[in-house]
Amino acid sequence: MGGAQRGTRVVCLPGDGIGPEVLAVAQRMLAELAPDLELEEQLFGAAAIRATGTSLPDDTLSACRSADAILKAPVGDPEFDAADVRPEQGMLQLRAELDVYANLRPATRDHVDLLIVRELVGGLYFGAKGVREDGTVFDTCEYHPSQVERLVRRGFELAGLRRAHVTSVDKANVLETSRMWRRVVHEVADDYRDVAVEDMLVDNAAMQLASSPQQFDVVVTENMFGDILSDLAAAMTGGLGLAPSASLGDGGPGIFEPVHGSAPDIAGQGIANPAAMLRSTALMLELAFGRAGEARALEAAVDAALASHPTRDLGGDATTAAFADAVARTLAR
Ligand code: NAD
Ligand code: IPM
Ligand code: MN
Repeated sequence: MGGAQRGTRVVCLPGDGIGPEVLAVAQRMLAELAPDLELEEQLFGAAAIRATGTSLPDDTLSACRSADAILKAPVGDPEFDAADVRPEQGMLQLRAELDVYANLRPATRDHVDLLIVRELVGGLYFGAKGVREDGTVFDTCEYHPSQVERLVRRGFELAGLRRAHVTSVDKANVLETSRMWRRVVHEVADDYRDVAVEDMLVDNAAMQLASSPQQFDVVVTENMFGDILSDLAAAMTGGLGLAPSASLGDGGPGIFEPVHGSAPDIAGQGIANPAAMLRSTALMLELAFGRAGEARALEAAVDAALASHPTRDLGGDATTAAFADAVARTLAR
């Protein structure tokens, strides 16, 4: 990545539920591995709603804008599920403000090595929504071809660095947006003759992921399909406790966060698996700071801890703290 000067500022968003528990483990390992990085914490999510009335306070947003990377723990709290102001809104706003349109969700295990490239700032999440006079409630799936093109291009670029196979997942037998999506995919594919491309309907894609996940290399798909399929891909490769993600735009800071949520059912018990948060931290070291060596060291230490100190979600009995100690011991060697 050239000799460009890289910054050192990481904004950490502790979030809700198990968020602060797993973020603390990541902060501890960064202090060990990359002590020159400057970590600052900002309010976000339910904690921010309680303190300021909004999930993404102005100070948090401006700190994120000027950061070199954002290390984000999950947000979400049952207390706000039915409220008008919800933690998840701040998260969607942050993604949109930073225009991190490409959400990379790798899933690996044994012979499975796939990368979901999920469109993150369009589609059903961001289309017109509301209530009609008769009480009908609606959300609409909207995409401009340029939004699809930049995402799909990112997918082809990444496939060129991997096994050169793109599966584009859509619902073109029903949805107009999917028909356009498919057209754009094949236009972009003309620029990447070395990469094989395949279209797959989303219902079949779910079945194929569950029955033969090893067939996939890069999967490009729209926001909502990618949300659902990435939890399935995580389940196929060891569970949500292991699955990291990186959300990237064109320049500007990326957001690095686990695929999983705030897990209110186990929050406060000290048993959350911090592996997904640590793997997201490794993605940050590599993709935001060009520190691949440290990223690999962290990933290897996580793998070793998964073998020696599995947490409860993996059938073991290691606490978050015991897992963290195991990672730290490997890093210190
Ligand atoms: P979830 O991912 O929080 O939990 C699903 C199941 O997986 C739970 O049984 C949980 O205990 C388990 N789990 C998840 N992460 C784990 C970990 N690291 N270690 C051990 N077990 C783990 O999904 P949910 O229950 O549907 O959602 C809870 C809240 O999280 C909701 O408010 C939702 O909106 C929010 N959420 C936030 C994000 C995010 O901030 N990125 C992502 C997904 C969900
Ligand atoms: C995720 C989460 C979010 C999403 C929610 C919490 C808004 O499920 O990051 O996968 O749907 O994008
Ligand atoms: Mn999700």
